[in-house]
Amino acid sequence: MTDETAVDTGAVCPDLSGQVAVVTGGGRGIGRAIALGMAAAGADVVTSARTDAEVEAVADEARTYGVDTRGITADVTEDEDVKTLITETVDVFGGLDILVNNAGFNPGDALGEPDAIESGAVDAVLDVNLRGAFRTTRAAGPYLRNAEGAVVNVASVAGLVGLPRQHPYVASKHGLVGMTKSMAMDWAPEVRVNAVAPGYVATNLTEPLQRNEELRRSILDRTPLDRFADPVEIAGPAVFLASRAASFITGETVAADGGWTAR
Ligand SMILES: NC(=O)c1ccc[n+]([C@@H]2O[C@H](COP(=O)([O-])OP(=O)(O)OC[C@H]3O[C@@H](n4cnc5c(N)ncnc54)[C@H](O)[C@@H]3O)[C@@H](O)[C@H]2O)c1
Repeated sequence: MTDETAVDTGAVCPDLSGQVAVVTGGGRGIGRAIALGMAAAGADVVTSARTDAEVEAVADEARTYGVDTRGITADVTEDEDVKTLITETVDVFGGLDILVNNAGFNPGDALGEPDAIESGAVDAVLDVNLRGAFRTTRAAGPYLRNAEGAVVNVASVAGLVGLPRQHPYVASKHGLVGMTKSMAMDWAPEVRVNAVAPGYVATNLTEPLQRNEELRRSILDRTPLDRFADPVEIAGPAVFLASRAASFITGETVAADGGWTAR
């Protein structure tokens, strides 16, 4: 743009009209909010997770934004499921522009004392949070390249700093932040690859933290905005990163953490 040209609205206001987005782990929580956010911004959306009823319910909700939607059941640890998710999406919608790798979990304290964590438990976390994103991105790659599309990985503040007693989860999310940078290099200039790193968000995953008053208080004491995020507050940055408003951003991880990592 030169001084004389007008600002193109699509270059500054996130608008996903005419695009097709796949959101993994889209059955509830942050994934559901991102799927609805993509639909609100005009994208046709495929919601995917392991539970049929959940993905269908979110697809129905997303349709109320006037876009076309599907729910496709898939486990991101299964190569065949992931391939089917992507090929079905392309069959139905004719292409794929946006992939959101959101499926993830944190077994947290359920793994017991750090010294007792079995390597199999580490594998299980990596298989969903890191390899799941790798598998899905690899399957979607040719279509995203063709569409000059975008990947948004849902990382975590646990991908930016260490957390005590969480090392499998922290390893998986640091891996995802690293993979975001590396894929951004390999796939440029056709595909932008970015991540959003949520802080503490009010979902099923953080239910035990929200219920434990001592833990809840210690989290809020470190969070300048003094609350857990609503899932929709992660959808906004995800929609932005997927959109043309972020056209010169790639390889970046944007913290949406109420200031938690600023401290
Ligand atoms: N809630 C938070 O505070 C928080 C903070 C930082 C990052 N995150 C990340 O955000 C993402 C979503 O978390 P959430 O809080 O909404 O959790 P959630 O438990 O409410 O939802 C997770 C979703 O992922 C799906 N999922 C899990 N394993 C899967 C698999 N193998 N295949 C397909 N889908 C699978 C679940 O079915 C569910 O739909 C995760 O990657 C999580 O690590 C969450």
